[in-house]
Amino acid sequence: MGLFAFSQFSLKIFLLHITLFSTLSFSGDPSIYQEIHVSYTTVSPLSVPQQVIAVNGKFPGPVINVTTNNNVVVNVFNQLDEELLITWPGVQMRRDSWQDGVLGTNCPIPPKWNWTYEFQVKDQIGSFFYFPSTNFQRSSGGFGPFVINNREVIPIPFAQPDGEIFIMIGDWYTQNHTALRTALDGGKDLGIPDGVLINGKGPYQYNDTLVPNKLPFETITVDPGKTYRIRVHNVGVSTSLNFRIQNHNLLLAETEGYYTTQANFTSFDIHAGQSYSFLLSTDQNASTDYYIVASARFVNESLWQKVTGVAVLHYTNSKGTVTGPLPPPPDDFYNKGASMNQARSIRQNTSASGARPNPQGSYRYGSINITDTYLLNVTAPVKINGTTRAAINGISFLKPDVPFLLADKHQLRGIYKLDFPSKPMNRTPVVDRSIINATYKGFIEIVFQNNDTTVQNFHLDGYSFFVVGMDYGDWTENSRNSYNKWDAISRSTTQVFPGGWTAILVSLDNVGSWNLRSENLDRWYLGQETYLRILNPEDSKDNDTGVPDNVLYCGPLKHLQKEQKSSASALGHSILFTLLLGVLCVIFTAS
Ligand SMILES: *[C@@H]1O[C@H](CO)[C@@H](O)[C@H](O)[C@H]1NC(C)=O
Ligand SMILES: *[C@@H]1O[C@H](CO)[C@@H](O)[C@H](O)[C@H]1NC(C)=O
Ligand SMILES: *[C@@H]1O[C@H](CO)[C@@H](O)[C@H](O)[C@H]1NC(C)=O
Ligand SMILES: *[C@@H]1O[C@H](CO)[C@@H](O)[C@H](O)[C@H]1NC(C)=O
Ligand SMILES: *[C@@H]1O[C@H](CO)[C@@H](O)[C@H](O)[C@H]1NC(C)=O
Ligand SMILES: *[C@@H]1O[C@H](CO)[C@@H](O)[C@H](O)[C@H]1NC(C)=O
Ligand SMILES: *[C@@H]1O[C@H](CO)[C@@H](O)[C@H](O)[C@H]1NC(C)=O
Ligand SMILES: *[C@@H]1O[C@H](CO)[C@@H](O)[C@H](O)[C@H]1NC(C)=O
Ligand SMILES: *[C@@H]1O[C@H](CO)[C@@H](O)[C@H](O)[C@H]1NC(C)=O
Ligand SMILES: *[C@@H]1O[C@H](CO)[C@@H](O)[C@H](O)[C@H]1NC(C)=O
Ligand SMILES: *[C@@H]1O[C@H](CO)[C@@H](O)[C@H](O)[C@H]1NC(C)=O
Ligand SMILES: *[C@@H]1O[C@H](CO)[C@@H](O)[C@H](O)[C@H]1NC(C)=O
Repeated sequence: MGLFAFSQFSLKIFLLHITLFSTLSFSGDPSIYQEIHVSYTTVSPLSVPQQVIAVNGKFPGPVINVTTNNNVVVNVFNQLDEELLITWPGVQMRRDSWQDGVLGTNCPIPPKWNWTYEFQVKDQIGSFFYFPSTNFQRSSGGFGPFVINNREVIPIPFAQPDGEIFIMIGDWYTQNHTALRTALDGGKDLGIPDGVLINGKGPYQYNDTLVPNKLPFETITVDPGKTYRIRVHNVGVSTSLNFRIQNHNLLLAETEGYYTTQANFTSFDIHAGQSYSFLLSTDQNASTDYYIVASARFVNESLWQKVTGVAVLHYTNSKGTVTGPLPPPPDDFYNKGASMNQARSIRQNTSASGARPNPQGSYRYGSINITDTYLLNVTAPVKINGTTRAAINGISFLKPDVPFLLADKHQLRGIYKLDFPSKPMNRTPVVDRSIINATYKGFIEIVFQNNDTTVQNFHLDGYSFFVVGMDYGDWTENSRNSYNKWDAISRSTTQVFPGGWTAILVSLDNVGSWNLRSENLDRWYLGQETYLRILNPEDSKDNDTGVPDNVLYCGPLKHLQKEQKSSASALGHSILFTLLLGVLCVIFTAS
């Protein structure tokens, strides 16, 4: 009782702490401080009680809301029973892969420890989400939205929306991440997910047979006659989802940091790891509430019916609850290319300003010569030495045990190889730690050829890239004739359809070691990732650039790591500190 009262109190003070700090600005750009406590909590989104990963007690976690050029300081407290790293995909830390939060850039935060990330969101805007990159934890939660707002002086290419709505959709298993990991380690397929969650909640009971239990469902309340910006993220394991809102258009406006030409869709395919902003006009008569649906795509509908998320859009003047069938999914039988055509139709708004006042289309990527081509053959899982693994160009990545640039700094040898093949190797796949020796200031083409039978999604940390081409069949040099050289969308996660290819162009202007990976968690876990090592030859005499003071050591460098007091006592200090600040703040406001 007393403890409860205290924690309520300290929570308020904690909020004061954040507000107080976020209004302070140090030399140059303002800093935003945030503490995130990652812990288990028990919920029953699909009626089965299960341990999920909460952030500051919330599932999904809170939004991290920053503005272009802010310095972001996030103190992450690991209250799980296993190692943790939080990653910020799409956030392009300049020359700072030391903050990226994947095993090739950071040693994991041990249980009960905390570690502070510090990075600048330089020249960026957009909708992203953070999540735990280690141990398959994303399948149990730990994710939340990460928004980078335009600076006030830079107009957004649409009227200021009347409100913002965050929607996190994703396939969901009632088994936790440790159980799913065990299944993958045992060579099993994860099988059909148990459902789709929308903002951490199970489906509205739209059909008593398909949803036998009344579950807590997500309700999004809106006023009539307004325009909302909805930011939708597929945070799931691997299922491609079709997102739609009954009787409403989705006006596409932004994807992962770039404004798009605006086009209306009645439904939109959002693949694992992808983020989109839509503008939603609440222009209906509210005779009832409306369904919000996220349903599994490209699957046998009768087997996958339960893999459907259903939430409710409620107008404040609504005259009744939702009834009747869900709005139908796209019809692939009569329109086989629909999903790919939709993806190809996403175009960059070349005249809008992004993070800077100049138009997004002022960077003429289509006239820059390509310096290197990487043709990556993404293949279905196979057994390597008795274990199920997945490979790219015959290499299944061995999980790093020490960050690569840290290994360089300490002159460790044999930690990784720089020989990742730039073409498919028609040889028996191997497990290896082979990374791409990419050339600083190069302008490279990466072609993902998906030889697997499921939709794949590839993400590159530290960069955004132009998605210039996508088709079925095998990529050939002639495929370049079909590239979009003018208004291809720039983003950081792209789908690759099974039996097809996707081509991206990347300008390698960001020094570091950057993770290139499958966003399908199972394939990533089985080894479909590598890194691009991009060094500025002029930096080589000074490898220390950017190594943070609080760098953690692990693996072969573990002996360099000092003990940390458990985060429980660090938390104690933090509460004391915030109390003190709170008191000061109260005194200050009172006077
Ligand atoms: C995960 O599930 C397994 C098997 O059901 C259980 O033994 C384990 O305690 C669970 N772990 C967490 C962190 O919930
Ligand atoms: C994020 O911050 C911007 C301004 O800094 C503010 O206008 C907006 O309401 C905030 N959004 C959320 C969800 O906190
Ligand atoms: C852990 O948190 C405390 C504040 O609670 C902070 O002073 C300390 O720097 C943090 N440790 C690291 C390694 O970031
Ligand atoms: C509920 O779903 C079942 C199975 O798809 C279907 O047969 C039934 O007609 C649905 N019920 C209603 C009321 O729509
Ligand atoms: C999109 O649909 C809305 C109605 O929902 C309409 O007002 C708007 O003009 C349409 N925009 C475009 C670009 O088609
Ligand atoms: C509201 O819209 C629905 C669907 O567009 C229509 O069927 C219904 O008649 C309308 N109701 C009123 C009161 O206008
Ligand atoms: C690009 O390559 C072409 C032909 O190889 C060459 O003529 C041209 O000068 C190059 N352009 C630039 C900007 O390097
Ligand atoms: C910098 O890293 C290179 C390997 O990339 C290594 O050979 C060199 O010794 C390092 N220099 C210093 C000063 O650490
Ligand atoms: C990709 O690998 C598969 C399996 O080894 C092979 O059958 C296929 O020909 C390869 N595709 C390309 C484009 O090399
Ligand atoms: C299988 O394991 C052995 C012994 O660990 C190793 O030498 C060999 O390279 C491995 N083979 C592959 C294909 O990874
Ligand atoms: C990496 O590439 C650079 C040129 O960009 C080259 O000088 C260097 O030798 C390469 N390193 C290895 C190990 O291949
Ligand atoms: C994989 O590659 C082989 C050889 O080119 C081809 O026969 C097969 O159809 C491909 N499978 C897919 C799903 O692309």
